Amino acid sequence: MKYFRNFLKKTDDRMLMKMDHYLDIYDRLLKDWRGRNIRFLEIGVYKGGSLRMWRDFFGPNAELTFLDIDPACKTLEIEGTTVEIGDQTDTDFLAKIVEKYGPFDIIVDDGGHKMDQQKTSFRSLWPHLKNNGLYIVEDTHTSYWPGFGGGFRAKGSFIETCKALVDHMHSWYTDQDDIFPFHAAAKQVHSVQFYDSLVIVEKQLKEAPFSISVQNGEVTKSDKILKVRNRKSIF
Ligand SMILES: C[S@@+](CC[C@H](N)C(=O)[O-])C[C@H]1O[C@@H](n2cnc3c(N)ncnc32)[C@H](O)[C@@H]1O
Repeated sequence: MKYFRNFLKKTDDRMLMKMDHYLDIYDRLLKDWRGRNIRFLEIGVYKGGSLRMWRDFFGPNAELTFLDIDPACKTLEIEGTTVEIGDQTDTDFLAKIVEKYGPFDIIVDDGGHKMDQQKTSFRSLWPHLKNNGLYIVEDTHTSYWPGFGGGFRAKGSFIETCKALVDHMHSWYTDQDDIFPFHAAAKQVHSVQFYDSLVIVEKQLKEAPFSISVQNGEVTKSDKILKVRNRKSIF
């Protein structure tokens, strides 16, 4: 299935703005989401080209909400979509969006791409992403642009925040409680996927992970993988 790649031929005069390689990633990553009755949120409308792309991908039963700071974007609403006007760093505005349209299965941040925008939206919206949902941030190369609050290994860039999330996700497993305590995100983050300019964080609510040993179809669970390092902040 090449829905996103093929969509390029189906575009009309409403401009779509994506990096070319996102289309193939979305075709692979989102194939099981096609036609599903989901709640979807995209930050960033611009000329409105992505509204029909997402609507036709998810189908008529999905609820699709779009946000933009530019009031002109309201006129780009099409059937089956809602466009709300506001700032992605305005936490009161985001709370109202969540109350009205959430919780969401998929969130795409294609807004202003500045560090405070990406981080504030992520912090505010992540708790309202459903279990097994995806949080997608586009154009994360801005993490390397000083004008956007980034820079190489810049403390507080969105990419650095996501690298820290990789540590949090693994915080079950070490004994260095003093420098690397258990982080609650470990119970929610299933994966942090880094692509060129795209970060995808997958949510999966879980209790402590465990190992299994299997013989003759008989499965034995073990929590030794956690206890082996004598992690004090979990037990
Ligand atoms: C890259 S464009 C969106 C492109 C669109 N998603 C697409 O796929 O064609 C970025 C949009 O983000 C909006 N934007 C910039 N800063 C914002 C903010 N603080 N809050 C909400 N939207 C913002 C801009 O007005 C612009 O329309």
